[in-house]
Amino acid sequence: MEAKILTNEILEEDIEILSLRPKLLKEYIGQKKVKEMMDIFIRAAKNRNEALDHVLLYGPAGLGKTTLANIIANEIGVNIKVTSGPSIERSGDLAVILTSLEPGDILFIDEIHRLPRIVEEILYPAMEDFVIDIIVGRDTTSKSIRVDLPPFTLVGATTRFGDLSSPLRDRFGVVHKLEYYNTDELTQICKRTARIFECETHEDALFEIARRSRGTPRITNRLFRRVRDFADVLNDGIISIEICKLALGKLHIDEIGLDSKDYAYLLGIIEKFDGGPVGVESLAASIGEEPTTIEDVYEPYLLQIGFIKRTQRGRVATEKAYKHLNKTHNLRLF
Ligand SMILES: Nc1ncnc2c1ncn2[C@@H]1O[C@H](COP(=O)(O)OP(=O)(O)OP(=O)(O)O)[C@@H](O)[C@H]1O
Ligand SMILES: [Mg+2]
Repeated sequence: MEAKILTNEILEEDIEILSLRPKLLKEYIGQKKVKEMMDIFIRAAKNRNEALDHVLLYGPAGLGKTTLANIIANEIGVNIKVTSGPSIERSGDLAVILTSLEPGDILFIDEIHRLPRIVEEILYPAMEDFVIDIIVGRDTTSKSIRVDLPPFTLVGATTRFGDLSSPLRDRFGVVHKLEYYNTDELTQICKRTARIFECETHEDALFEIARRSRGTPRITNRLFRRVRDFADVLNDGIISIEICKLALGKLHIDEIGLDSKDYAYLLGIIEKFDGGPVGVESLAASIGEEPTTIEDVYEPYLLQIGFIKRTQRGRVATEKAYKHLNKTHNLRLF
């Protein structure tokens, strides 16, 4: 998320983005396997009138983890409380949230890999036995009180599965990886967005936006809204292939969806480090980015399309990347 000036008003843009979020499993496009499984688990839990087992969703940003968590709550007909790993600093914060849950409720913890260790430890008995131990009093008079919790479902989301501790990972009964979407699925998502916004759109334009969305619904919706701006001003609001190409060109989104930051990254490896291998720290410094931004934002998709490889010695640009950027390998003579 980009930093935003804090305001009590919800920005118009946010309302628009929220309106695009599917509310039901059947409106959730793609992720067929995950959807099939979740449908069964949701129905089973509902039939037995039990809380759904804890669910862990992982995968790159913008693929629909938060959306799916909300759909699960909506389909079961329970409340969802939303929080995130970095925002829960003390175990007391988590205790307050847990004790406020109603039976069957969903607690959604985004970026769960960033929960502080001491907070995470409160989660173990909470997830397993629906109890927490609270320490009251100070020093010599302190004692631990066990508090029962209502049965609830924890839905955890993370972009970094590997950063989760194994005791936490093991406590999730259902674990799903969300995959990048194919162009056909993204075209459907784009069509849905056009319908919700009541835009006149040509089929080939929808496909073009989808094709340049890096497999990611959030990007599809973002590009759609930018193209719509151009269409509104220059083309009577009609989203045609011509206006689409014009807008995406102005935004420096190339024909496979790479933007100027991806170019900076790839050219960094190719020109500054002879194609690699180069460590993520040096690469980050050379293009003025944070290593974590590189790892979480740029690399997952470039790895997916085979433009880079991660080796023991660092990142390497592949032949495919050279071709796409019209670059030739420098012969190393020494
Ligand atoms: N399967 C889908 N069908 C239709 N639209 C989707 C789908 N998945 C995501 N979207 C759209 O993409 C947007 C981004 O999804 P969401 O916020 O759920 O991603 P996320 O995986 O939680 O990302 P992050 O890791 O950055 O939090 C949603 O607001 C929604 O409009
Ligand atoms: Mg999210």
